[in-house]
Amino acid sequence: MPRESPPPSSSLTEAPSLAEAWARLAALAARPGAGDIRALFAADPGRAARCTAMLDDLTLDWSKTAIDAQAHAALLALAEATGLGGFRDRLFAGAAVNVSEGRAAMHMALRSPRDAGLHAVHDGGIDAASRMAAAERARMADFVARVHDGRLRGATGERFTTVLNIGIGGSDLGPRMVTEALTMVGGGVMAAHFLSNVDGHAFAGLARQLDPARTLVLVASKTFTTQETMTNAAAARAWLVAGLGEAGGEAAVAAHFVALSANEAAAAAFGIGAERVFGFRDWVGGRYSLWSAVGLSIALAAGWAQFAALLDGAWAMDQHFRTAAPAENLPVLLALVGIWHVNAMGYRAQCILPYDARLHRFAAHLQQVEMESNGKSVLLDGRAALHATCPVVFGEPGTDAQHSFMQLVHQGTTPVPVDFLLAARPDHDRDDAHRILAANAFAQAEALLAGKSRTAVEAEMRAAGADAETIAAIAPHRVFSGNRPSTTILFRRLDAHTLGRLVALYEHKVAVQGCIWGVNSFDQWGVELGKVLAGGIGRELAGEAVGAHDFSTAALIARFRALREG
Ligand code: F6P
Repeated sequence: MPRESPPPSSSLTEAPSLAEAWARLAALAARPGAGDIRALFAADPGRAARCTAMLDDLTLDWSKTAIDAQAHAALLALAEATGLGGFRDRLFAGAAVNVSEGRAAMHMALRSPRDAGLHAVHDGGIDAASRMAAAERARMADFVARVHDGRLRGATGERFTTVLNIGIGGSDLGPRMVTEALTMVGGGVMAAHFLSNVDGHAFAGLARQLDPARTLVLVASKTFTTQETMTNAAAARAWLVAGLGEAGGEAAVAAHFVALSANEAAAAAFGIGAERVFGFRDWVGGRYSLWSAVGLSIALAAGWAQFAALLDGAWAMDQHFRTAAPAENLPVLLALVGIWHVNAMGYRAQCILPYDARLHRFAAHLQQVEMESNGKSVLLDGRAALHATCPVVFGEPGTDAQHSFMQLVHQGTTPVPVDFLLAARPDHDRDDAHRILAANAFAQAEALLAGKSRTAVEAEMRAAGADAETIAAIAPHRVFSGNRPSTTILFRRLDAHTLGRLVALYEHKVAVQGCIWGVNSFDQWGVELGKVLAGGIGRELAGEAVGAHDFSTAALIARFRALREG
């Protein structure tokens, strides 16, 4: 199995203890049979129990990985050598861990009780972040109550029945994922729709379904400058004003629009008054913002109690992450499993498989949380990264995934580690369906581990009456190597509390990995260049003279223009 080659000059550029910790990991991965997970189970009947950690009912089983006792110890030592304990303390103390932007990453304050005392130290040194977050939360709760009981109505006097959240990236993926998870079965208090893509087809489809008189529009944008969001907000505004007839106009914008933003001035310029702006501070990153005002769509659609339970669940995970010993700490363990797979085994992808239709956007959310956070190749001090960082994250709910990409996960050339997620109890009454679902989750993990040998395939074919020539030709195609890693995250029910725990589990996993890789998990400069170029190209597509481009881009722009004109 491919492994990352050790960085040639690591001992010259890393602190000796850190270089040793990485070297130890590489040495353990280079042992003969280092990827043989089946052998670890054969040698240790207690492995499953030893490699399982819990937070109440939330169970993380990482036994189906090739991490043995020595590798586990080496991973913990690596975490310690990178200063994980100190990093965690600085994170919760509100230090400016986002060094390239001089900001804290204090999303934990958004789910903390008022008196939790989390401070955004850099923010003037006087901001009690948890107190601020609680005050904004109280405003949100009051607003939600008034929408739900009809005290707040649209410009024509109708009650709001539908929420349209306009936002992209963290202002869309998190709230959309959670809202859809929490309302799929029960239906929710209000209908919710999410508009993210600037592609006009997306809004055209929505506009056909929605009644402007009963639609509350949330413009979710931390910066209130994101091109896609502001373009869609302008389209929604025009649609609303036109659709409300005589009741349309500026007053209608004030009645129907809400801003979820850290930029109150820009929201005011759009026509949204301060009482309709729900804010948060710069210590909340976009992909960590679903707990803030950006989660208003969740509270409106699923109800305030659900939103509060979500925050409670995340806070429970925060406390666990903050206080549990590394060897029992779920985010730390999940992070170390990932480090083993990326840096010891050389795997470059991570598959997320929730066996739960309600989590159909979970992988989409994690794609941003993981890849926008740790898809970096520069260390905190500006030097090039010495070790591979974030893998490609992808996923779909099971069992759908089994009928699309799982072929590659079982038989592709490079193993792809999988996270399976499963609730023991469903929130519907078709227990037969849930048993089939669960059986498939366990079977996939078992198949990845056990595989199927050539001998077993041949015996099976012989028993089915195949002749020797057919067996020789077909058997290789039916062999599964096995020894393919997975972790399983099992919990009692997927309620709001557990969903909060799950999202926070992955957020902290990402922070731990960022610490170990030595990158800044809280900036996202990699999305900027394309935005800037799109501005210039957009002007060219609108008729300005075409500027300097590479030959391919120039030819494509010319062809695009010709096709539009022809
Ligand atoms: O894609 C880059 C990004 O800045 C994300 O980090 C963020 O979630 C998204 O754009 C949306 O930004 P905003 O909330 O400011 O509109």
